[in-house]
Amino acid sequence: MASNNNQYGAAGGALNSAPQSNRNWLIYMIAGIAALGGLLFGYDTGVISGAILYINQDFHLASNQTEMVVSISLLGAIVGALVAGPMNDALGRKTTLAILGAIFCIGALYSGVAPDVWHLIISRIIVGFGFGAAASIVPVYISEVAPAHLRGKLVTFNQLAITIGIAVSYGVDLLFAHAGMGWRPMLAVAAIPSIMLLLGLFFIPESPRWLGLRNRWRDARAALQRLGGTEADVDQELSEIRQAARQERGTFWQSLQTLLRPGLRLALIVGVGLGVFQQFVGINTVIYYAPTIFQSAGLSSATAAIMATSLVGVVNVLATIVATFIIDKIGRRPLLLWGSAIMVAALIALGAIFALGSSHMGLLVLLALFVYIIAFAISWGGIFWLMSAEIFPTRVRAAGSSISSFANWAANYVVSATFLTLVGLLGQSGTFWLYAAMGVASLLFCWFLVPETKGKSLEDIERYWQQGVDRVEIPRGPVPQT
Ligand code: BGC
Repeated sequence: MASNNNQYGAAGGALNSAPQSNRNWLIYMIAGIAALGGLLFGYDTGVISGAILYINQDFHLASNQTEMVVSISLLGAIVGALVAGPMNDALGRKTTLAILGAIFCIGALYSGVAPDVWHLIISRIIVGFGFGAAASIVPVYISEVAPAHLRGKLVTFNQLAITIGIAVSYGVDLLFAHAGMGWRPMLAVAAIPSIMLLLGLFFIPESPRWLGLRNRWRDARAALQRLGGTEADVDQELSEIRQAARQERGTFWQSLQTLLRPGLRLALIVGVGLGVFQQFVGINTVIYYAPTIFQSAGLSSATAAIMATSLVGVVNVLATIVATFIIDKIGRRPLLLWGSAIMVAALIALGAIFALGSSHMGLLVLLALFVYIIAFAISWGGIFWLMSAEIFPTRVRAAGSSISSFANWAANYVVSATFLTLVGLLGQSGTFWLYAAMGVASLLFCWFLVPETKGKSLEDIERYWQQGVDRVEIPRGPVPQT
């Protein structure tokens, strides 16, 4: 079988030459700009944990109103994820991102000046809509412009931006809290990355794959040239995109029907399953409720609990940086499997620490959470978003990714909304053991169903679902000689 040596198909031989490294820089920059969408997502999901304390002081909220202010943006995100698919198909990746950036910016500024709790709730729905939709579009865009051998790393920039957004939001909360300025600037500051995203969009090309789907072949060629490929690379890439684009395509609802047919149905199950399990292992009980967890482990002062939470945020960022380096080397499957196994061990340990009690409980909980967050960050954190984009054929990618992302936000909502109730019912230990059981289920799911996509072109992955013989190993397809 011919080996695929162009820059998009695989880790080809020409990659070490000097011009290639310039091309890589260009691609890094383009992915970095798109990943600002992840920053919005991270900042806005993190910022509310500190802001809510001050919102409560100003508006004297009842507990159900507090819950609503905290979680309503997730409902906005669920709707945003669903709308993202049709928008992305109809308008293209770039235009959709621009519209969402603008919506997000308006929502963030509106939340900063909200005169009462109802305006605040509406503004949080707008913001959630923006980041929920962007969360599914950014990975799709990056996966479509990235060469196969860098795709994992570049799409993981999105996850890196999410974790940086979360960590920065904790820092900003602390800053404005110290300055006595309250919640308004905390929420309004989110407009800054959205303005950066809007400006950055002027410098990045539309996805050549989306242009191909629209039969805009001249524009697709120009986009590939802007991505820095040689003429030979561009020709080869175009011919692969053309072959894939020949197959039927249609509206979002037709894409949905296509996704429900045998073959692609498995891709949909993998996308949705990864989305649900990424949340059912309990990650956001840590991200949203870490101070509460630390306080129940004995770190009674709010400052100590917030400091410990910030440390978890920083470790999350550092481990995600490591993930960007290993994801294309080790591959998605081993990382998912090991990630699940280590998270299960950490969750069992967390449950045991709460069950047995100890005078060093605070420290032990912190250590267990470090292990847990590192395992999540190098595996499920980035890999779900990466695979939600790369496993679907181009003609149904927007639909597939938007449904997987919808499942992820819905699962996120379920876990966040039930955590405190579960702790009341099962206790801390029982709750963490329940997430450990989910971790075991996630491991089995990956073992049996999730294929390795490392180093495969998007078109190789597409052929795999159509032929779908071997569940875990995707063969690299024959590629025309250039
Ligand atoms: C998840 C988020 C989570 C974040 C933590 C993302 O991949 O989708 O729900 O808060 O990782 O780093």
